[in-house]
Amino acid sequence: MNGRMLCPVPPMGWNSWNTFYNQINEELIRTTADAMLEKGLLSAGYRYLIVDDCWALKERDARGRLTPDPEKFPRGMKVVADYVHAKGLKFGLYGCCGVRTCAGFPGSFEHEFQDAAQFADWGVDYLKYDNCHRPGSVPSHILYRRMAMALRSTGRDIVFAACQWGTENVHEWIRSTGAQTFRSTVDIQDSWKSIETIALSQLDRQVSAPGCFHDMDILVAGMYGGGMNPETSMGGCTDEEYRTHFVLWAMLGSPLMIGCDIRTMPEKTRTLLTNPALIAVNQDPECRSCYKVAVYGHPDAFVLVKPLCNGEYAIGFFNFGEASTSMTLNFWDIGLSVVSGHGLRLYDCLTNQDMGTVTELLAPEVAAHGCKIYRCGIVKA
Ligand code: GLA
Repeated sequence: MNGRMLCPVPPMGWNSWNTFYNQINEELIRTTADAMLEKGLLSAGYRYLIVDDCWALKERDARGRLTPDPEKFPRGMKVVADYVHAKGLKFGLYGCCGVRTCAGFPGSFEHEFQDAAQFADWGVDYLKYDNCHRPGSVPSHILYRRMAMALRSTGRDIVFAACQWGTENVHEWIRSTGAQTFRSTVDIQDSWKSIETIALSQLDRQVSAPGCFHDMDILVAGMYGGGMNPETSMGGCTDEEYRTHFVLWAMLGSPLMIGCDIRTMPEKTRTLLTNPALIAVNQDPECRSCYKVAVYGHPDAFVLVKPLCNGEYAIGFFNFGEASTSMTLNFWDIGLSVVSGHGLRLYDCLTNQDMGTVTELLAPEVAAHGCKIYRCGIVKA
């Protein structure tokens, strides 16, 4: 690998689970790969195309191998991976550390090295590795260390995305397994309540540093209550809520995995998901965590501050309340007193406008379930 890091910044891509559930097949993956290029997602940074659960047959073959379901993938997985690679994308697949996957397909327990070799053979570049049907006798960290080692033994660059759901203090030990990402929350649903719950659970739990990232789950932005997954589909969110969702995942340094049908997504979804200023915050090379600043008089609102490279900052205002609110951030609270003689030059990442220089405080009006996000440089006032 010549000293190259597999995930210097959070990985970005698309995952089949949220919208397509068990309705996956070669045609879906091919047309989605096409759309990733046609809709400008690859050029925005979305590189991984991930086939989630339900791709295999219910039983291993006579030699103990995982077998792609011939009705869904009649020409096998290598053909699919080859197509994805020919587009300049990376191919991701799903597995599980238990005896069965969450949807009841064969898991990799006691087959780790055999399956890793198989994945490498097919050309897999990313393995999402779930946490269902685990034998009680083996601790979680052993099972994740095991598959990490199996993948490393193949000699192929395969991102190891541990899907551990944030249990058993995973944030304390996951880096030691060698994983590049780890699911740190429960499964997301296409509702504001779910977005809010996941975001709040991660404010003090960010593990963002080059090489390994906490994964807040697949994005629901653009689903609008659709899709075939009864576990995810929940009535949907407003455009404002999807925007706040994407800004939170960007600020908090989560991998950005799109979960809607990108082939038919509306232009407003495409514009949000490819916003270069938001993606730059998520992909900032320093990968620093955010800190939270409370907003006086507004228990449901908070500000997140994330130091970026080039001496800049991202500052996000989030209103989880039910009414539009003017949120005041005193710069004193982030280290910038009036006597410093400095202010912040602001760039609004959502409207893509320079806002000039501001000193002392900022008090934007933020809609219910809405947000504002600025990229800021420090300047002499
Ligand atoms: C778990 C994971 C989901 C998805 C399903 C598939 O619930 O957390 O992201 O992969 O399994 O069965």
